[in-house]
Amino acid sequence: MPRVTMRWFFLSLVIVGFHLVCASDDLNHVPNISGSLWDATNTVHIISRVPNNPTPLQVRCQSRDNDFGMHTLYNGQEFHWAFTENFFGTTLYFCHFYWGSEDKSFAVYDTRLSHHCPPLAESNYSNCYWEARPDGFYLSGDNQSWEKINNWT
Ligand SMILES: *[C@@H]1O[C@H](CO)[C@@H](O)[C@H](O)[C@H]1NC(C)=O
Ligand SMILES: *[C@@H]1O[C@H](CO)[C@@H](O)[C@H](O)[C@H]1NC(C)=O
Ligand SMILES: *[C@@H]1O[C@H](CO)[C@@H](O)[C@H](O)[C@H]1NC(C)=O
Repeated sequence: MPRVTMRWFFLSLVIVGFHLVCASDDLNHVPNISGSLWDATNTVHIISRVPNNPTPLQVRCQSRDNDFGMHTLYNGQEFHWAFTENFFGTTLYFCHFYWGSEDKSFAVYDTRLSHHCPPLAESNYSNCYWEARPDGFYLSGDNQSWEKINNWT
């Protein structure tokens, strides 16, 4: 390799290495966001809007690496978690919901859904709010305007 190309090659390695170190460090605390994809911090909220009869909502959320276990959410209660988008932008979380005799499992965060939850300009953090209602599952990026994404069946 010519000397100049080699220098750029090693400089690139240092820059990539620096980002990798920062990205893994971000996993351990809620970081300040610098605006690049893998620094984006997202919080997913799961909210029950179903009656507590015949049973309150139960939900188990998982990714490939995490299992948050079964949570019981009475009407109005929520469960949430925060994460840093992974380096490759392939972060995937899915949840299994149970209510009475109904149950449904689907992805609550992936590349396809992330555009529903854009970062808030003033904070650099984004939120995905999921409401489980008697007629299905609604998603919002601002906890105000909702879009129905899934049915129970
Ligand atoms: C990070 O956030 C803290 C508190 O939110 C703030 O005081 C600090 O200036 C921020 N740092 C950068 C580099 O934005
Ligand atoms: C959000 O990110 C932008 C671009 O990196 C930065 O200029 C701004 O200071 C950040 N805002 C906050 C509140 O951290
Ligand atoms: C979302 O909105 C509801 C109803 O306005 C409110 O009770 C709740 O605290 C909000 N959640 C968050 C995380 O802001």
